[in-house]
Amino acid sequence: MLRTRSLFSSCLTDSLPRQRRLFNTLRPRQPRIRSVAITATVLATVLATGIAIHTALRPRVLLEEFSGYPTVTKTGSDQELISYDEVQKHKTKDDCWVIIDGTVYDVTEFLAQHPGGEGIILANAGKDATKIFKPLHPPDALDMLEEHQRLGPVDPLSMPEVVEEITDEDRRIEEARKRLPPVDAMLLLQDFEDWGAKVLSGTAWAYYRSAADSEHTFNENSNSYERYWLRPRILRKVGSGDTKTSFLGIDTESPFFISPAAMAKLGHPLGEVNITRAAGRLGLVQAISANASCGLDEMMEERLPGQPVIYQIYLNKNRQASEALLKKVEKLKPAAVMFTVDVPWQSKRTLDARAKHVVAPVVEDTEPQLKPSKSPLGVSEAIGGYQDPNLSWDDIPFIRKHISVPIIVKGVQTVEDVDLCVKAGVEGVLLSNHGGRSCDYAAAPIDILYEIRCLRPDIFDKIDVLVDGGIRTGADVVKALALGAKAVGIGRPILYANGTHGQEGVERACQILQEEINNTMRNAGATKISEIVPEMCGPAGPWVGQNRPPYVPNP
Ligand code: HEM
Ligand SMILES: Cc1cc2nc3c(=O)[nH]c(=O)nc-3n(C[C@H](O)[C@H](O)[C@H](O)COP(=O)(O)O)c2cc1C
Repeated sequence: MLRTRSLFSSCLTDSLPRQRRLFNTLRPRQPRIRSVAITATVLATVLATGIAIHTALRPRVLLEEFSGYPTVTKTGSDQELISYDEVQKHKTKDDCWVIIDGTVYDVTEFLAQHPGGEGIILANAGKDATKIFKPLHPPDALDMLEEHQRLGPVDPLSMPEVVEEITDEDRRIEEARKRLPPVDAMLLLQDFEDWGAKVLSGTAWAYYRSAADSEHTFNENSNSYERYWLRPRILRKVGSGDTKTSFLGIDTESPFFISPAAMAKLGHPLGEVNITRAAGRLGLVQAISANASCGLDEMMEERLPGQPVIYQIYLNKNRQASEALLKKVEKLKPAAVMFTVDVPWQSKRTLDARAKHVVAPVVEDTEPQLKPSKSPLGVSEAIGGYQDPNLSWDDIPFIRKHISVPIIVKGVQTVEDVDLCVKAGVEGVLLSNHGGRSCDYAAAPIDILYEIRCLRPDIFDKIDVLVDGGIRTGADVVKALALGAKAVGIGRPILYANGTHGQEGVERACQILQEEINNTMRNAGATKISEIVPEMCGPAGPWVGQNRPPYVPNP
C-alpha cells in the first residue's frame, strides 16, 4: 500500500518516530509565476499544523514578474520563500544547507561544531532533514545557530511530493499497537520490555536494548540478582509501614530513582517530559540525561514545586563547553549532579550498530563524495562524539569548583575506585556499568556491592552507595538495599514503559516496582527501609562454611 502526501506536511505531522525510506517523485519543474501573500502568523500556523500551504492560502499580491524560474520568492510580508531547487544546490562541505521544520539553515560553518559529527548532516545536505532531526534533538538545539544562518522559509509549493511506502515495520507496529494491553494489565516490568520489543520502532528498540559487544555484562547484570537470596525474618508486626527514604539528603517515596537515559523521544514524542511528570506525581527522583532529547529547561518547567531532579553530565573534550554547562546546571540547582565516568571509550553497541542504516539512511541520490566519511552512525556512536576519553581524578575538583550540590560519580566498578571516590570527597557513588553498554565482562554491580559489604563495610558510613543495572523486580531492590545500597537506579524499563504507554506507562512501571518492594520488604520482616539490613540477604545458600556471609550473626 502506498500513501501520498507532501514531504513538508509529513515531516510536521508525524508523531511517533518512524524511519521510512522516502521515494521522491518530484513535481514537474516548469517555470511558473509564484505570487503568494503570506503573513508570519499564517506561516507559523502552516508550520505548526502541517497543512500544505496551497490549501491554506490564496494568491493575493503579485510581487515578481516572471523572469525565468524563480529561486527565491518575495512574499507580502517581505519574507523570502526559498525554493527547494535552490536548497538542493547547497550540498557540499563548503556550502551546506538543510531544511528543518520548513526553515532553511546554512550549516556550513556549523558542520565542524556539530555534536553529532559532520557526516550525518552532509548525508542530508540540500534536503529536508526534519524527520531525522526531530527525534534526536532537544527543541532548543537550533538556538545554537546564529541569526544569519537562518535563511528563511522554504517554499512549500516547491517541495517534492513524496510517496511514502508503508513498510513491514509500519505494519508490524500498527498491528502490535492494536493488541497492546491497557496499562493496568501490565503486571511486571518485564511486560513493558516484551511489549516494547513489539511496538517500538526498530531504531528505538535497538538503541534502548543495545549493549556492548557480546552482551555478557548486560546479561550478567540481571542474572546476578538470581544468585542473591533473601533471609526473611518472621513475627515482626509488618501490618503498617512505608517505602519512603532518602539518599544524599534527597527525599523519595520509594528507594529507587530513574537512571539517566538518553533519547526518550525515540520511544514517545513527548520524550523525557513524560518521565519528569510521572516522577513528580509519584514523588520519585529522575536523573536527567546529558543527552536527553527534550530541552533541560523544558523538563525543569514540568516539575512540580520542590520536585527534586538529579542532572547527569559527561565532560566535553572542550572544557570551556563543560564549564558553561556546569554554570548553567549550578543555576538550576538540581538536587545533585551525577558525573558519568564509565564510557571513556565508545564500545560497539551491537544491536544499535546493526540498526545504524536506519538512523542515517544513505539516500540513493547522494553523490559519492557527499557520503559520510565513515559508515552512518548508530545513535549511540553519534551521541558519544563530544565526550572526553581523557577523564582523570583531576576532573572531580574541576566539577566541584562549579557545583555546590552533592556529586555522585556514576559508573564505579571496583571497591578500590569507591575508596578513591571517598578520598576525592564526593558524596555518592553509583555502582554501574552503564547497563552493560560499555565494557563487556565488567562485573555485575550487585557483586561489587557484596564485595564492599564483606571487605569494606566502613565505606557505607562515608559515602552514599547507589547501584543500577539489571534491576527488574522489587525483590532485586530489597536485596541491593540489604547489602548496603541507599537507593537503586532503573534504566531500560522506564524507556520501554514510556515507549509503550507514555507517561501512564512510566507511572505504572514505577508503581509496580513500588508495590513489589513493599510486598517483599514486609515479607522479609521490614516495615520501613531502615529495617532492611544486611543479614536479610546473602549469596544463594546453603549459608554454611565458606558460603556463610561474614556479616550474618551466628545463631
Ligand atoms: C541544523 C542544525 C543542527 C543543530 C543546531 C544540531 C545540534 C545538535 C546538538 C546540540 C546535538 C547534541 C544533542 C545532545 O547532546 O542532546 C546534536 C546531535 C546529533 N545530531 Fe544534530 N544538529 C543539527 C542538525 C542535524 C542534522 C541535520 C542531523 C541529521 C540529519 C543531525 C543529527 C544528529 C545526531 C545523529 C546527533 C547525535 C544524537 C544526539 O546527541 O542527540 N543533526 N545535534
Ligand atoms: C538507552 C540508554 C541510554 C542511556 N543513556 C545514558 C546517559 O545518557 N547517561 C548515563 O549516565 N547513562 C545512560 N545510560 C545508562 C543508565 O543510566 C543506567 O546506568 C543503565 O540503563 C542501568 O541498567 P538497566 O537499563 O539494566 O536498568 C543509558 C542506558 C540506556 C539503556
